[in-house]
Amino acid sequence: MKKDHGEKIVVIGAGNVGEAIAYTLMVRKQANEIVLVDVNEDRAKGAAIDVLQGTSFHKQTGVRQGGYEECADADIVIITAGIARKPGQTRLELARTNVSIIRSITESIMKHAVNPLLLVVSNPADILTREVQKVSGLPSERVIGSGTSLDTARFRANISACLNVNVTDVQAYVLGEHGDSQVAVWSSASVSGIPLTDYENIQKVELDRREITEHTRDGGAEIIGLKGATFYGVSMAVSTIVEAIVKDEHAILPVSHVLGDTYGSWSGIAFSLPCRVGREGIEQTFLVPLSEEEQKALDQSAELLKEFYSQVKE
Ligand code: 2OP
Repeated sequence: MKKDHGEKIVVIGAGNVGEAIAYTLMVRKQANEIVLVDVNEDRAKGAAIDVLQGTSFHKQTGVRQGGYEECADADIVIITAGIARKPGQTRLELARTNVSIIRSITESIMKHAVNPLLLVVSNPADILTREVQKVSGLPSERVIGSGTSLDTARFRANISACLNVNVTDVQAYVLGEHGDSQVAVWSSASVSGIPLTDYENIQKVELDRREITEHTRDGGAEIIGLKGATFYGVSMAVSTIVEAIVKDEHAILPVSHVLGDTYGSWSGIAFSLPCRVGREGIEQTFLVPLSEEEQKALDQSAELLKEFYSQVKE
């Protein structure tokens, strides 16, 4: 990663998510240059000008529309492109379409970039993370899916609201698929280091675990039902991953990547586990302690993803 010009981040796809990510990176002063790439050049240009105008109140940042050649010296390339599900379209049809879009995007990136760090945000997130890794041929540590970082944020927010405690004091993960088979890991949840069950005993409260788990899982669908799309939550999740990379934070984040040979039946699939993230991408992956039930649910999530991926590729 070059340090002479500050961070340059390319965002592929200037739809709601790509635009909100560019805005968030600008507001959080995370890049010196932000480039938006989209087949709809006008859309990317408009988004870039809009975000750029905000910089006059804030910090000098170059924000512009550009082409894939911009990936050549980018520190991070964020992939948000893909289509949203149309009425009547199945999840499988959507996945097939987005896999083919993402495949050609990855080829275009790799035509220009040497050993880039890729962040995959498009859905279905884990299927696409796996596809990008495969097509790019990059080490799996350099192809990071935003995965359940967003679901984890929702989980923590839901717990915090029920306990009336600061959300940053809640430690809890959602792991596995960024989708319906995700696993809320209650067994190791804590509040400021106090195991959750102890905290509940102290406060004489008992959380409705089923309700919170379902509300977390359905968090994206709820927003889509209300306003048609989600983009701010995911932007903050992506910006947090970007921060871990550009500041070499060694931060532990629940993100997706293709798991290697040491993961038994999970090998070869991409899904989220807590990972230590720094300048070179994923530095270490952790197998957190799980209850028997959670372990089973995570195995099921892996099986579903394996099955789904093979259907998509048929
Ligand atoms: C979300 O969970 C739809 O993946 C998007 O907000």
